[in-house]
Amino acid sequence: MKVRYYSFFASLNRPAVALLLAGLAASCNQAGKTETTTTATTPAATASNKADWWKETVVYQLYPRSFQDSNGDGVGDLKGITSRLDYLKSLGVGTVWLNPIYASPNDDNGYDISDYRAIMPEFGTMQDFDALLQGMHGRGLKLVMDLVVNHSSDEHAWFKSARASRTSPYRDFYYWWPAEKGTPPARYSTFDVKHDAWQYDAPTKSYYLHYFSKKQPDLNWNNPKLRQEVYKIMRFWLDKGIDGFRMDAFQFVAKDPSFPPIPNVTESNFANSYNHGPRLHDYLQEMNREVLSHYNVMTVAEGAGRNVTEAMLFVDPARKELNMTYHFEGVGVGNNADTYQLTDLKRVFTKWDSAFAQKGWQAIDLGNHDQPRMVSKFGDDRPAFRAPSAKLLNTFLLTMRGTPYCYNGDELGMTNSKFNGIADYRDVAARNAYTLLKQQKGDEKAFFHTLARFSRDNSRTPFQWDDSAQAGFTTGTPWLNVNPNYVTLNRAAEEKDSSSVLHHFRRAIAVRKQHKVLVYGQYQLLDAANPNIYAYTRTLNGEQVLVVLNFSSAPRTWALPAGLTPTGQPWLNNYPTAPTGPALALQPWQAVVYRLR
Ligand code: NOJ
Ligand code: CA
Repeated sequence: MKVRYYSFFASLNRPAVALLLAGLAASCNQAGKTETTTTATTPAATASNKADWWKETVVYQLYPRSFQDSNGDGVGDLKGITSRLDYLKSLGVGTVWLNPIYASPNDDNGYDISDYRAIMPEFGTMQDFDALLQGMHGRGLKLVMDLVVNHSSDEHAWFKSARASRTSPYRDFYYWWPAEKGTPPARYSTFDVKHDAWQYDAPTKSYYLHYFSKKQPDLNWNNPKLRQEVYKIMRFWLDKGIDGFRMDAFQFVAKDPSFPPIPNVTESNFANSYNHGPRLHDYLQEMNREVLSHYNVMTVAEGAGRNVTEAMLFVDPARKELNMTYHFEGVGVGNNADTYQLTDLKRVFTKWDSAFAQKGWQAIDLGNHDQPRMVSKFGDDRPAFRAPSAKLLNTFLLTMRGTPYCYNGDELGMTNSKFNGIADYRDVAARNAYTLLKQQKGDEKAFFHTLARFSRDNSRTPFQWDDSAQAGFTTGTPWLNVNPNYVTLNRAAEEKDSSSVLHHFRRAIAVRKQHKVLVYGQYQLLDAANPNIYAYTRTLNGEQVLVVLNFSSAPRTWALPAGLTPTGQPWLNNYPTAPTGPALALQPWQAVVYRLR
């Protein structure tokens, strides 16, 4: 049985058939053999991206519940984060994106907000928030907050009023289907046990819409009053001095309120049917006019429409909407566990890069709180390969064109965790999927096999600070078990080891900061069909670098394309020595950044 927990993200933007790779030379993929390469063409003119702070920054995604507990209740909190600001600064990142810290009954770990202007008591107080923001700004770090306005919590005052009476002034802040009209046209919900997005509500004999869990009713963006309330909330936080928003599930906000029937509503057509609804861009342009244009902040939309053309509509500067989007196709290809190939990853990242080569901007990421750990998915988390593959993946993130998003713990190479049954999982998606499985008497073995690899809880385990009890995260019992590998895999151990993933991460950030070619330089894929090597050049104003990544646990030899000659010491390398041409003999998961000119 297929586990349906947020895996719809994997189905977003599934490529049509357009393979950029078509026609390129097939390569030999046997370990140790020289692999043929395609010839690098002369780079075309540099992309005309204008300089902006949010393009040059590196974003560190911080999951507050799991970062640092300060009071022993087992839950990470704001004071805990404040106590770790020197660590964040030491990484070299410029911006922190905090997952939601607002008041919430926590049906979906804070993505169900009951008061947009209050801090979740478990996380602390508004004073704690102000101190955190001040501490960050004092260190030159920027703070981006999650804005979750596709839906609120069912415990938000608006919804409580709306559900009490059909004449409530807040009734139209949500979508209702009166029962006298019959059963509403089918809509899919990702987290609902039955995947039914309509929940019957007895007090007003009506159904309300919820694309996520039934405790996350969808807000009605067609209502200008709701939009104005959202803009006020945004101004409240921006006036406190925050530096931007990551906009949750934003591509879903626009709905046709007549709810025309959608034939065959399933998880796989969820994205196609609901993404990018009517008036989405009117709303974004209005939000920009009324709020964003008055502040020098960054905005990033989660999701990017159904394809690159739609994605551009969010970020084309002429349209005055948002700064960047992040798409799901990159993290999604790795979720096709049995068929995933490196060539898929190359094709996807190359396609998205080309789409934004002349205008617009995108986020670069390989993991977040909705995905398993990047090293377990795209690298090799076995002891011999964990560190080199984590370093390689960080090298990739920090040498691509776009703003890199590093998910907390990935700078250490944290891995997927170990769960001993449903009681160990906390995610609403996993738990509701299990309820459904039981109802349907499904195959538990297959279910847990898939869950172990892909559960969102894998990336939500507590941050591994040191080898003391509970990894130094809490003195109490953590809300989600610590990954047992904390005994050897932790920040303290990596600080002491100059060859650790952590030190490599810092070096990679320093190199990116020093060389604008890694931020703005044109990207060109080399040897597209090679199943093991991901190689590309970045070129800006006559300066050119070559990034060579051996995405495999075997040594590989890669022939330098004619005309590309490294000069001087490599800028970055995750092994003590770097191979030299004309055929580069690469160690397993070796990642080298060479300067060409
Ligand atoms: C996307 C968030 O990243 C995810 O964690 C959340 O469950 C859904 N949106 C619903 O808000
Ligand atoms: Ca706490």
